[in-house]
Amino acid sequence: MNHQHDIVIVGSGLAGLRAAIELGVDTKTAVLSKVFATRSHSGAAQGGIGAALGNEEEDKWEWHMFDTIKGSDYLGDQDAIEILARDAPRAIYELEHMGVPFNRTKEGKIAQRAFGGHTREFGQAPVKRACYAATRTGRVILDTLWEKCLQRGIEFYDEFQMLSLIIEKGHCCGVVAYELATGELHVFHSKAVLVATGGAGKIFKTTSNAFASTGDGMAIAYRAGAPLEDMEFVQFHPTGIYKLGILISEAARGEGGILRNAQGDRFMERYAPVIKDLAPRDMISRCILQEIRAGQGIDGKDYVHLDLTHLGKEVIESKLAEITSFARTYAGVDPIKEPIPVQPTCHYMMGGIATDNEGRVIADEQRTPFPGLYAAGECACVSVHGANRLGCNALLDLLVFGRRAGREMRKYSHSIGFQSLPPNPAKADQDRIDALMQNHSGVSIPEIRSQMQEVMMDNVSVFREANGLEAALKEVMQLKQRYQQIGITDKGRCFNRDLLDAIELGHLLDLAEVITRGALLRQESRGAHTREDYPERDDERWLSHTMCRFTGDKEPDIFYKPVVITEHQPQERKY
Ligand code: FUM
Repeated sequence: MNHQHDIVIVGSGLAGLRAAIELGVDTKTAVLSKVFATRSHSGAAQGGIGAALGNEEEDKWEWHMFDTIKGSDYLGDQDAIEILARDAPRAIYELEHMGVPFNRTKEGKIAQRAFGGHTREFGQAPVKRACYAATRTGRVILDTLWEKCLQRGIEFYDEFQMLSLIIEKGHCCGVVAYELATGELHVFHSKAVLVATGGAGKIFKTTSNAFASTGDGMAIAYRAGAPLEDMEFVQFHPTGIYKLGILISEAARGEGGILRNAQGDRFMERYAPVIKDLAPRDMISRCILQEIRAGQGIDGKDYVHLDLTHLGKEVIESKLAEITSFARTYAGVDPIKEPIPVQPTCHYMMGGIATDNEGRVIADEQRTPFPGLYAAGECACVSVHGANRLGCNALLDLLVFGRRAGREMRKYSHSIGFQSLPPNPAKADQDRIDALMQNHSGVSIPEIRSQMQEVMMDNVSVFREANGLEAALKEVMQLKQRYQQIGITDKGRCFNRDLLDAIELGHLLDLAEVITRGALLRQESRGAHTREDYPERDDERWLSHTMCRFTGDKEPDIFYKPVVITEHQPQERKY
């Protein structure tokens, strides 16, 4: 079936929906999502969204900007970070006017709480900067934006999986998608496409991400010629529930929660004497693993305790409601009475499809735009998070840069006509699906996926070194070979999960390769990328963004792009 829309947005999380709203009622917009729109992973965001409102104590956007730069270990582009921090208060008040039910202070202002790496006066002490709705902040924003989209007549195609971008004469002019309910292929012809498909946590064995976080948009854009930027920077959130990876929000530490080792010691006091348990995530994840390596894991195992017992029932049940229920349900502990067992869990990709500050995908280090192709949200790299994202800057990124992408696409789509489509744009995807359906090789999709997740977790997670990275790359490349032989057992057309698993696995494997290659080449430690064989940050050689371009059957082309530094020169990063 064929469709025509001025703009197609792939992904219905906050970035996609905020862009759709900005396109206005005079732009014919479609939003495609492989899940029902309000099941997008943005809805899982718990603890808050950052903005220097100063509602609880003095705060300034300049401090927010500085914290984000320092948090990024000086790899974030400072022009983009300035936009993020300056625009944050406007973005929050806009949400308030749309009806987002934030928690309130006694005076009725939007309430704020502390979050990791957010400080007053350039690092002097923690500051309350995260606006929140209990621990369901993403959920309430997602529902509100979705309602606004419905009011504006945005057309939703729920449960449509993007298979490829249509590129004609170097111009992106649509999408081929697979309808999960019928197995039918659809061609969406458009003037431009926004990729807003979220992250790829499912590359790793332990993750806080949803099952749908398989990096589809990043991998499809990469195969279509868009470079991926800084993919080696993968965030491990310090507090996933032991063995499961389910997130226990940083809000728990923002409200006063404390990490303790086997001795009951508050170990973060030793590593970050000023901000302790509110140090940034890269640092806390490393510290937890160092404690475990030093034999200080609880009962000699690979986890530590997150202690909330001193906060009291009222705070725990009112401000940390969801995570309390997660702890009870999944860890079998009641946080009012007992500590929660936690360990680092893969949470967020700092890297993604390289874009400029207006959401335009860039094709090279000179920032040449890729005509008709835009990206926003976790699948994109603007780059505001650099080597390590601060908590509560993700939702902000989605809204600030989703809006900017929408504004830019609106201008673009009102200035040009439709580019003609190539003949039979869905043929390659149809052939691929037919081949998968007809293959009976018996090479197992779950087996390849779990081997990839194991090797990435063992060798490419918090601590890395050359031998492990080389072993991981070798195994990923072998798994990619085996992937060529997979077949699927379910031959049906209605909600064929087997087929989708196969498609998603191809995306995960491509990204696992890009992450590992970038990590192997970067011979320094910066932010979330810790090379035990190169323990120091090396600004002389490595203050630059890794760019990775797909080259067909050859090894990907890796090149580098300078970091934009406006006012904060790199300094030692102490907390
Ligand atoms: O810990 C959290 O609530 C996560 C927030 C974030 O990733 O920004």
